[in-house]
Parts: sequence; C-alpha cells; structure tokens
Amino acid sequence: MISKSMLKKLAKQHGTPLFVVDHAQLRRNLAEFKRWLPRVQPYYAVKANSDPEIVRTLYRAGASFDVASWPEFELVHENIKDLPAKERQDYIWDKIIYANPIKANDTLRKLNPYKPLVTYDNLEEIGKIAKHAPQAGLVLRLKVPNTGAMVELSSKFGCDPGQAVSLIEAAHARGLTVEGLSFHVGSQTTNFQNYAQALQLAAGVLKEARSRGFTKMIQLDIGGGFPAPYDDNVRPIRELGRLLNAEIPRLFPKDVAILAEPGRFLVATAATLVAEVIGKADRDGKRCYYINDGVYHTFSGVICDHMKYPVRAFKKGATQLCAVFGPTCDALDTISLAEELPELELGEFVYAPNIGAYSHASSTSFNGFPPAKVLHVNQDA
Ligand SMILES: Cc1ncc(COP(=O)(O)O)c(C=O)c1O
Repeated sequence: MISKSMLKKLAKQHGTPLFVVDHAQLRRNLAEFKRWLPRVQPYYAVKANSDPEIVRTLYRAGASFDVASWPEFELVHENIKDLPAKERQDYIWDKIIYANPIKANDTLRKLNPYKPLVTYDNLEEIGKIAKHAPQAGLVLRLKVPNTGAMVELSSKFGCDPGQAVSLIEAAHARGLTVEGLSFHVGSQTTNFQNYAQALQLAAGVLKEARSRGFTKMIQLDIGGGFPAPYDDNVRPIRELGRLLNAEIPRLFPKDVAILAEPGRFLVATAATLVAEVIGKADRDGKRCYYINDGVYHTFSGVICDHMKYPVRAFKKGATQLCAVFGPTCDALDTISLAEELPELELGEFVYAPNIGAYSHASSTSFNGFPPAKVLHVNQDA
C-alpha cells in the first residue's frame, strides 16, 4: 500500500474523497498471479474496475481481458485499435473473452464483426448467437459449487453439467463451434475445494464431449474468484496455485489451454480511499462519524459486493466503538456500525485500504454527490 504519509499528502493536495490507484501494485498483482499459476492465462475481469488507465496498465503488462458488456469491449479495443488488422483480430480471438452468458441481440450484432469468443449456458442463447453473431466462437459456462464464496453466482449463471453435452451438440447443430468450457466458483472464494470440484465436473464434461467428436474443445476457463488478501485469514494465492497446478495436469490433456478471469485479485489491493470527517455526533451513546464518501459511492461494495471495509484513522490513540456513515441523506448510507476509531476532529482524514474492486466501479452520483476523484500513481513501469 502507498505510505500513510503519502496518502495524507495527496489528499491535502487533491482534496477528498480521493481514490488512489497504485499501478505498481496492479503490475505486482498480475506478476504474482502468473508466478503461482504459470499455466493459466489471466483475463482481467474489467467489471471489477473499468477505469481506462487500469485497463491500459494491465494491457501493457500483458494481461488478457474478460469483458461483459459492449462498452467494456470498446474500452479494451481502444488499446488495440491501431494494430494492423490481422494482429488486432488475433488479439481479440486470443486475448478477449465476452464472458456474460446472457447477451442482448443488439450487443451480439455489434460483436459479430470482431469474431469474438463468447460464453453461453442455455438453448435460447444459442438461437440468438446463431442469428446475430454467427462468427463468434462459443464457450459453455457450467454451474459449479460456489460454497462459502463471498459473492455467489451459481444461481444466476451456468448450465447443469448433466445438460452440457446436449448444449454443445445443439450449438454445433446451429453451425456454431464450441471452443471450450468455463465456470465461476463465486467471488472471493476462500474455500479452495470449489475449484477442485469444478475442475472435476469440467473434466467429465470435456471427456464426454471429446468422445462424441467435439475435438475442437481446447479451452478451459476457470473463471474468477481468486481471493484478495483482505485480512490474514485469507489463504494466499500460492496455496491455491499448488492445488490448481496439481489438479489441472491430472484432469486435463496437455492441449487444453487454461484461462482465468481474475477481477478482484488484480485490482482490490491496488486502490486506497482517503475521505474526510465532515460531521460528528453522539447518538444512543455511540460516537457517529459522517465522512464524505459512502455506500452510494466508493463504499458501494458494502451493498453490491457483500463487503465490509474497515475505516482507519491516520492517528494512533485510545479507540472507541463508533458508527461511520456516508454523506447522503439516506440511512442506508451506513458504512459500519462497529468501527474502532480514536477521537477524530472535523476535517480529519480517514482511509480505507484494499478498496479497488467493485467499489468505484459501482459508484453513483446519488443525492448530488459525485464519485470520488481518481488519482493514478506509479503509472510508468
Ligand atoms: C463471468 C465472470 N468472470 C469473472 C468475474 C470476476 O470475478 P472475481 O472478481 O471474483 O475474480 C466475475 C465476477 O462477477 C464474473 O461474473
């Protein structure tokens, strides 16, 4: 994390709320991912934080991309638009996956000329893709256990593994080609058994599909879920790497390319928020601090991402149990009802580390308060 003295200096210089993105940390996170998962090609899940500067840094550092909407596709495409046509097309095919299993017809029509790889998980989608994006390659998303994940996704996406082969057959019957399989074990997965079980399920489907002649299935996308080290209880990526590096070669032939869609792991620890105390009151015997950022803004993950972000003081000293609220007039704008903080004065800065994922990305302008100002540091490699 950027030093506390530097954060304070930047907040004085640029004002608050200030969302400080450390690009050196982004590059370190990508390097760490590649170090422990050398066979896995990381496709940054742009939705975690779609700031164009973040996308650019990860592009320059050699990441591939998971996009899940047309604007996200355009954002990545911005980095490759000046490449020669063949190189650009190769990049799209090799390094971008459109990983939203449900796509509007209009989106499919826009994607079609780019011949992208897209995920699907149901029959209706096959019909839509065949009609509006026949040039796309397909990846079938499987439903896998999301047990214990902070954000569970399996109730919204993924086909039952028992239906997988018939969905592969159905896609081919419409003239499409299924290139591989994907799954997502749930975001911030600390139960690594989810990955082990998902790999087993995917290996069974792949074997069956190949035995029925679908030999072009050469991709396995192991999704996101890689946990960010929010606290000491989160087991390190090194341990997950050990499991995956043993299971993947055991279960999948060498010709299967392994890709992943890490979002949170790459970006969570790369940003810190600095905010300011703008109000202070005692209510029902509890000290309440009001700061100039809240759950409609950078702390949106409290609502949308099931996250709890600690709010920290820069100064040391005896603490008391406090409530911390955001600046809007809505009571939902509650960051925490149980934060240990020292006595803070109006105008004092506080900070929230590891707040880069699913935070600024879902910030609104509710109640007239604009999203926090973004400051990029260490952008040059
Ligand atoms: C399809 C897909 N891929 C990747 C991600 C990123 O997951 P994470 O941030 O847990 O790595 C998500 C998150 O919702 C997703 O839906």
